[in-house]
Amino acid sequence: MPFDDPAFWRAGAISTTVVMSIVLAMLTIDSLEAIAPGGSHVPPYTVINRHIDYAHNAKLGRDMPTIGQDEPLFGRAVEAPEAAALIERGKLVIQSRACIDCHTFMGNGAYYGPDLTKAWLDPAWEAWAAITGAESREEAMVRFLMAPDQYATWQRRMPNLGISRDEAVATVAYLKWLASIDTNGFPIHFGRIKVSE
Ligand code: HEC
Repeated sequence: MPFDDPAFWRAGAISTTVVMSIVLAMLTIDSLEAIAPGGSHVPPYTVINRHIDYAHNAKLGRDMPTIGQDEPLFGRAVEAPEAAALIERGKLVIQSRACIDCHTFMGNGAYYGPDLTKAWLDPAWEAWAAITGAESREEAMVRFLMAPDQYATWQRRMPNLGISRDEAVATVAYLKWLASIDTNGFPIHFGRIKVSE
């Protein structure tokens, strides 16, 4: 009987571990391809040249980002390398100011401020455009990011983080690209968190 032979169980454990390690490596490679910009689940960085919206998909039963006609950020279409450099810089601005100390991205971070995954799509930018005197959503975002304490709309205020205009432009590019990613319907209510204090 092999069942009372320890060598049988050892061989079983070793072969299962080897096979599952190979499966795990294959799944990892597959996921890395899917989540890379331009991969099957994440739009390429040049999506910042297009109109992005969030619409209910009846077949899937959840909201999904939609990528529409040309609508370049700040009215100027950028090629892939420039878009990548801009978004990379935006990421560095976000990391350098530790935005996740107050905000969440894809649900990661803190809950003091609103989730930023779909911040680009927030209808509140229309109000901010009026307050900041900006003519476009991106310009309103830049003005807000450079002086959030001046344009506060909420009980909780975002402090001035010393963001330069170039840094704010790059951050807006990052946030626009982020909004185009299909996050499986997260967050369901991407608008602002309502606080009553
Ligand atoms: C100390 C906490 C804090 C930090 C750090 C912080 N924020 Fe905020 N943020 C807030 C609060 C609070 C609000 C809401 C402010 C308001 O409505 O007046 C806000 C609002 C925003 C909004 C508007 C979101 C929306 O859809 O209404 C954006 C965009 C934003 N922050 C981006 C950033 C970025 C980018 C960083 C890092 C560079 C950052 N924040 C760092 C607290 C913070």
